[in-house]
Amino acid sequence: MERVLVAGATGYLGRYVVKALKQQGYHVKVLVRSQDKLNQEGAYSSPSIYDFVDDIVIGDVTRSQTIKGVCLDVDFVFSSVGITKQKDKLTFMDVDFYGNLNLLREAERSKVQRFMYINVHGADECPSTLIKAKQRFVNELKHSSIHHIIINPTGYYSDITEFLTMARKGRVFLFGNGSNKMNPIHGADLANVCVSAFAKENSILEVGGADVYTYREMAELAFKVVSQKEKITTIPEWLVKTSLPFLRIINKKQYNLFLFLFYMMTHDVVAKSHGKVDLKSYFESVNEKGGNNV
Ligand SMILES: NC(=O)c1ccc[n+]([C@@H]2O[C@H](COP(=O)([O-])OP(=O)(O)OC[C@H]3O[C@@H](n4cnc5c(N)ncnc54)[C@H](OP(=O)(O)O)[C@@H]3O)[C@@H](O)[C@H]2O)c1
Repeated sequence: MERVLVAGATGYLGRYVVKALKQQGYHVKVLVRSQDKLNQEGAYSSPSIYDFVDDIVIGDVTRSQTIKGVCLDVDFVFSSVGITKQKDKLTFMDVDFYGNLNLLREAERSKVQRFMYINVHGADECPSTLIKAKQRFVNELKHSSIHHIIINPTGYYSDITEFLTMARKGRVFLFGNGSNKMNPIHGADLANVCVSAFAKENSILEVGGADVYTYREMAELAFKVVSQKEKITTIPEWLVKTSLPFLRIINKKQYNLFLFLFYMMTHDVVAKSHGKVDLKSYFESVNEKGGNNV
């Protein structure tokens, strides 16, 4: 039985990966900062994973002494560690780059066979430090002695839930004119792709969901599901670009997250379709539960 270490196990994607790995018969070890989270359902209805976990290690990838020896008894490492909505003082370089690098060095020391890392599809030219930190790590991983498997997904349904949240409140805001396209993916679908990809060596996979939508179509779908009259406000690109330097002065982390979001909404982000769960069914299930369950 192959043994996998999952870092990022308490996050949206990590939870689905833990579940899928266990269902495929792997021995699953998780590296988490808080054991309590394993027994609770995650954000956006992602699963509670306590029952799918064989071994638990408490550690923080940004503090290398806390993860010493974590890879000693594993064959593969999966990492979806990164900053998304965390509000602590750590920067993208601290977590997305140096945190993952600490884990990679541990994996190298323990001669792990494969290291799978979750990057982002279609954001290579995005100037956000979020992307720069991820690209720096991808570069280290590609040059390491371990076989790399890099997954570049489009947007997750978790993030697209924001459209439903806005529609429930009566108005959806879009950057640009809403005509750019994306094929977002459900965490469970992406997890299945990740688990199958452990059979590969030195590969980069571009992964999108079942259907391609414009951002306006996603907003329209959200209004349909909540049975509200469509009210969509578009914020012109020039206005966002003029406001961005002010945000940078106030909060650098939020500025870089916003820059990334703005970039994604004003570019086409479409990758090979892998998903099964359609966005309408997902919106309906979230709406039935009364909101976004963040
Ligand atoms: N969301 C999207 O649309 C999207 C699209 C493409 C790529 N991605 C990338 O996919 C990855 C996973 O996304 P997600 O939505 O699953 O994110 P998420 O729900 O925020 O999960 C992030 C995971 O990283 C862990 N983490 C954060 N800082 C850490 C630290 N200092 N030490 C140890 N663990 C730490 C979190 O642990 P805690 O629970 O302890 O905070 C959590 O388990 C991210 O790198 C993201 O950039 C996301």
